[in-house]
Amino acid sequence: MKQEKNIIVFTQQDFQSNFLVNPNPPLGSGHDAKVYLAMHKRTVNEIKILKLIDHPGIVQIKGHAQDYTCVLLEYMPHDTFLRILKKGPFHISLSKTLASHLIHILATLHNHQIAHCDIKPENILIAADYKVKLCDFGFARITQQLSRPPGGTPGYTAPEIYKGNNLDLFKCDIFALGIVIFIIVMGFPPFQSNDPTLRDQWWNMILNKQYDIFWKKCEQYRQQKYPLEFKDMIMQMLEPDPDKRINITQLSQHSFLQNGASIEQIVQELQKRVKK
Ligand SMILES: Nc1ncnc2c1ncn2[C@@H]1O[C@H](COP(=O)(O)OP(=O)(O)OP(=O)(O)O)[C@@H](O)[C@H]1O
Ligand SMILES: [Mg+2]
Repeated sequence: MKQEKNIIVFTQQDFQSNFLVNPNPPLGSGHDAKVYLAMHKRTVNEIKILKLIDHPGIVQIKGHAQDYTCVLLEYMPHDTFLRILKKGPFHISLSKTLASHLIHILATLHNHQIAHCDIKPENILIAADYKVKLCDFGFARITQQLSRPPGGTPGYTAPEIYKGNNLDLFKCDIFALGIVIFIIVMGFPPFQSNDPTLRDQWWNMILNKQYDIFWKKCEQYRQQKYPLEFKDMIMQMLEPDPDKRINITQLSQHSFLQNGASIEQIVQELQKRVKK
C-alpha cells in the first residue's frame, strides 16, 4: 500500500489483506452504492493476539470495543525505548539483563507460536514501574507456517525478506531483536540498510563474514573493547542465512546473558534516562 499525504492508495489485493469489511448490516445504501464499515485488520489482529497472552513483559490489554474497532491498553507513561536508547549505549552488565529480558519475552511469544513481526525500539515501552514491555501486535501472526512477513520496518527486517515469500517469521524476529540488542550495547545501529540494491558497506561486512573488520571498526569508533560472547551472540542473531541463524532456545542459553546487573539497577538506570 502507498501513502499519498493522508490518503492510502491500495490494490484490491492490498485491501483484502489489510482491511475487514463488516458485511452485516450495511451502514446505508443509495442509488448505486451500499456502504459498509471497514476495519483495519491490524487493530482486530492486535486485540485477538493480546487476549491470548498475559505476561509481565507484554503491554496488557484492558478492554476493546465489541466490534474490534478500538483497543484499551495498559498506560505506559515513560516513553518508548527509542528515546531511552538515544541517551547513549548501556553498560555491558545492564545490557546483559536487558537483552536477557527481551529474549525471554520473545521466547514466551514463540512458545505460543506467535511471531511479533515488527520488533524495534519504538515498539518497546517503559511501564509506570519502569519495567520494559513489548507492544504493537498489529503485525503479529500465530503460525508455524512459512509466510511473508505482514509488516516490519527498514533497518530491522531480515535480509531474506528481499528474496522470497516463504519465510520463517520466528527467525525474522530474532534478526530484528539482534539489531535492538546491538544498539543497546553500541549506541548505534549495525548498518543503515540490508536492501541488496543499496549495497550498505556495514551490511556487506556481515554478509561476507568479515566479522574481524566489522568489530574492529566498531571498537575504534567507541574506543572500547567488547566481550567475545557479545560479538558471538550478535553475529549469530544477524546471520544472513535464516537456516543457520540461532533459534530462540539456543539464544536463551547464550553465555552473554549470564551475570548481568540486577533488576533494581536496570530500574535505576531507566529512571535516570527518563528524567534526563
Ligand atoms: N499503552 C501505551 N501507553 C503509552 N503510549 C503508547 C501505548 N501504546 C502505544 N503508545 C505510543 O504510541 C506509539 C504508536 O503505538 P503502536 O506502535 O501500537 O502504533 P502503530 O500504529 O502500530 O505504530 P507503527 O505503525 O508506527 O509501529 C508507540 O510508539 C508509543 O509511543
Ligand atoms: Mg508501532
